[in-house]
Amino acid sequence: MINVTFVCLGNICRSPMAEFVFKHLVQKYNKKSFKKIQSCGTSGYHDGEDMHIKTKALLIENNIECNNFVSQKIDKKIYDSSDYIFVMDQKNYDYVVDKFENNIKKSKVVKITDYLTNKTIDYVPDPWFTGNFYQVYDIILDCLNNFLKDFD
Ligand code: 4NP
Repeated sequence: MINVTFVCLGNICRSPMAEFVFKHLVQKYNKKSFKKIQSCGTSGYHDGEDMHIKTKALLIENNIECNNFVSQKIDKKIYDSSDYIFVMDQKNYDYVVDKFENNIKKSKVVKITDYLTNKTIDYVPDPWFTGNFYQVYDIILDCLNNFLKDFD
């Protein structure tokens, strides 16, 4: 059984979106390989808060369940218990690798955009700054559909 963790900076926009889109796809396609699916941030800026209202609105608009979310910062326990850690950008990647990873040759930290169909971009632009939550949704949905093709 596989534990998957999504990581961004604030854990209110991108990684919660990825968490709930992934949970939705796992259920929709009846993928049985996954156990714990969660998300966290590198900053802890929004610890204890719900996700961004626009992330929530977009998930609801797409009939994706997104209740009971609480923003949290990544820690060693989360790192150790995860089999895949999907990060949204290079800064997230550097943070997680620098802080937790001892064996870079067997890294479990992956940029989610490695799974993009058209490799037009190698990070998920932060909608906290761009305002573009739809772009995030499109990127994440494409990447996670591709990732799931490898699993039953
Ligand atoms: P996220 O977006 O990393 O996709 O959750 C952000 C949310 C909040 C902040 C930065 C990015 N912030 O600086 O508070």
